[in-house]
Amino acid sequence: MKVTDLTGLKPFINIDEELGLHLARPELAEAIFKAVDKDRLHLRQWLPWVDGTRSAADSAAFIQHSMKMNASGDQLITFLIWKGQLAGSLGVVKFIKDRKSCEVGYWLRSDLQGKGIMTRACTAFINYLFRQKNLNRIEIFVASGNAKSKAVCKRLGFSHEGTLRQALWLYNNYHDLELYAMLKDDWMDRDS
Ligand SMILES: CC(C)(COP(=O)(O)OP(=O)(O)OC[C@H]1O[C@@H](n2cnc3c(N)ncnc32)[C@H](O)[C@@H]1OP(=O)(O)O)[C@@H](O)C(=O)NCCC(=O)NCCS
Repeated sequence: MKVTDLTGLKPFINIDEELGLHLARPELAEAIFKAVDKDRLHLRQWLPWVDGTRSAADSAAFIQHSMKMNASGDQLITFLIWKGQLAGSLGVVKFIKDRKSCEVGYWLRSDLQGKGIMTRACTAFINYLFRQKNLNRIEIFVASGNAKSKAVCKRLGFSHEGTLRQALWLYNNYHDLELYAMLKDDWMDRDS
């Protein structure tokens, strides 16, 4: 299956000449489905929605839902385009508006791991969330067994604030969930 060429789409956040974050839009649906379909074993291990993504129509429906949530301000779902290819996704899956807080989630194609792409994308996205959206706190929940995702949080300087025991139910098993968080003040101090 050929990778869809997405060169030329205007990013929401331009990270560098190779990498940009793009808001959910219908043109991305086919590329998202191809990326997920090619990488099921890698993605399904920690993402509960993968088995429910069975056709390009499912990805198109997800895009429509994400566009609605982005427009209402309930979520902020973006997709990574790296060298013209759909590379993964990064987004705010939940805003807790009265606390200026949010929860972020992400995934990356397995063949693009190990290049620092997600760390770069998260750094730009977190800058945007603290500086433009004026949030005060960003949370990431990671299953205790998900070493690569925990490494992303640690590389970004997030604090491990605690572990929620058996808080995730995935494929007939409970998993502990580690809560990582970053405060605006700590992020800004890091830059100075
Ligand atoms: C979690 C996930 C995004 C991590 O991907 P990743 O490629 O390891 O993370 P990054 O893109 O930040 O890359 C970091 C790696 O690139 C290396 N790297 C190379 N250049 C780098 C740079 N300039 N900056 C940072 N890291 C760099 C790092 O050393 C690290 O490699 P290592 O794992 O061998 O130590 C990916 O494994 C994934 O999508 N997993 C499945 C879905 C999932 O678990 N989502 C999260 C749910 S909470």
